[in-house]
Amino acid sequence: MLYIGIDLGTSAVKLLLVDEDGAILRTATREYPLSFPRPGWSEQDPDDWWRACLDGLSALLADADPTAVAGIACGGQMHGLVALDAADRVIRPAILWNDGRTEEEVRYLNEEIGRETLSRRTANIAFAGFTAPKLLWMQRHEPENFARIARVMLPKDYVVYRLTGSFSTDCSDASGMLLLDVAHRRWSPEMLALCGLTEAQLPALHESYETVGTLRPEIASALGLPAGVRVAAGAGDNAAAAVGTGTVGRGGCNISLGTSGTVFISDPVFRVDPHNALHAFAHADGGYHLMGCMLSAASCNKWFCGDILGTADYDAEAAAVAPDALGRGDVYFLPYLMGERSPINDTSARGVFFGMTMGTTRADMIQAVYEGVAFALRDSVEVARSLGIAIPKSRVCGGGSRSPLWRTILANVLGIPLETVKTEQGPGYGAAMLAMVACGRFSSVAEAAAALVKTAQTTEPTPALTTRYEERYRRFTQLYPAVKPLFARFAAASD
Ligand code: XUL
Repeated sequence: MLYIGIDLGTSAVKLLLVDEDGAILRTATREYPLSFPRPGWSEQDPDDWWRACLDGLSALLADADPTAVAGIACGGQMHGLVALDAADRVIRPAILWNDGRTEEEVRYLNEEIGRETLSRRTANIAFAGFTAPKLLWMQRHEPENFARIARVMLPKDYVVYRLTGSFSTDCSDASGMLLLDVAHRRWSPEMLALCGLTEAQLPALHESYETVGTLRPEIASALGLPAGVRVAAGAGDNAAAAVGTGTVGRGGCNISLGTSGTVFISDPVFRVDPHNALHAFAHADGGYHLMGCMLSAASCNKWFCGDILGTADYDAEAAAVAPDALGRGDVYFLPYLMGERSPINDTSARGVFFGMTMGTTRADMIQAVYEGVAFALRDSVEVARSLGIAIPKSRVCGGGSRSPLWRTILANVLGIPLETVKTEQGPGYGAAMLAMVACGRFSSVAEAAAALVKTAQTTEPTPALTTRYEERYRRFTQLYPAVKPLFARFAAASD
């Protein structure tokens, strides 16, 4: 039997065809546009996702036996607001996870409704990218659009809806809406009322590894797939990526260096960070996780190399950073190009280079970008450590984790070994594993992880470099508090 894992990302959809032993037979990628209609806004057209998925599925199956496909699952970018009207038309472009327009709604939720109330109802407070503040924004700024809403869903749920007709979601992705009572894995009636919604407008809740439907006959025949192909609920991309790196059950940690950067700590037991700096979400294995999310991680390097230096040769830029320079530079970078989520929750924050002189080189600035992202990830790791959570090592995944330089910097900034896995394909592989569980190939996500995920490489920290980075991290932590008041003031002035 064959299984398809779909990773509905921010820049592209990546699809994997996997056999029943977990071997990756074929991959396909289809890109789509991302638009920033105003500073801090971030949108995509759900129909672009759908077209890219269909085209990608055709390419994926071109040389395969489609009749052997048993199951499909999707891991997707989280938090995006997709709203459909009663005729299933997309009402407006999806407002994405890294969109910062809801500052006012976040203030209302956290300060007037109150953090404690939100945390009691949903295990989380409001962050600009979460779905509930976007609904409030739409209610206030686009009341005619809001009045047309028949269905609210998350990005990957739109793809599942088009594939199967099943209006469903999974608990890991639903956790990021600020509408779910995460501890009890059910919608919060108070939060729905607050956002002017009824439960009928929200998808049915499932565990990630449960089947939510089979392919619509016309889709199955267009792709040459059997009509009975099962589609699993799937997961938010971070939960799917964690499954793909075997980060399930107690005490696992996975760090993703993708467009966003996340620190994902799995646990079978529900718990909340008392300061809500880390998100408390359901996991795709049926348990829970804590997660810190930075909004711009590998995308900082893409921006600096591509948009500023005008090169796509990331390896050449990295090669110019001398090993001996690590932990020693004078240049610092605050990676807040889209504002920041964890742990500072500041939509006005912006990117900053600090400490340049006439002697500063291109390589120094590349190094500062890598280090700035690693330091900002450490900020989330430090929150976890302050809760008494031991993180003796972590798995790493995502495009940035393929850079040996970035892994070395991160391992030493965090002071822990970092492991890559043999089948590293980000959320797509985890999604394929969820499809396998839905089809009965494995009896649980944990069993699938134990059978399929193997360590590839371990990057060990070295005492000398860890010590140097300790000092540099202490300095880094002084920068944001110093410029924080300016970010807010400058943002207000440019409104
Ligand atoms: C997680 C988050 C991002 C997106 C990226 O809370 O917002 O990691 O899921 O696709």
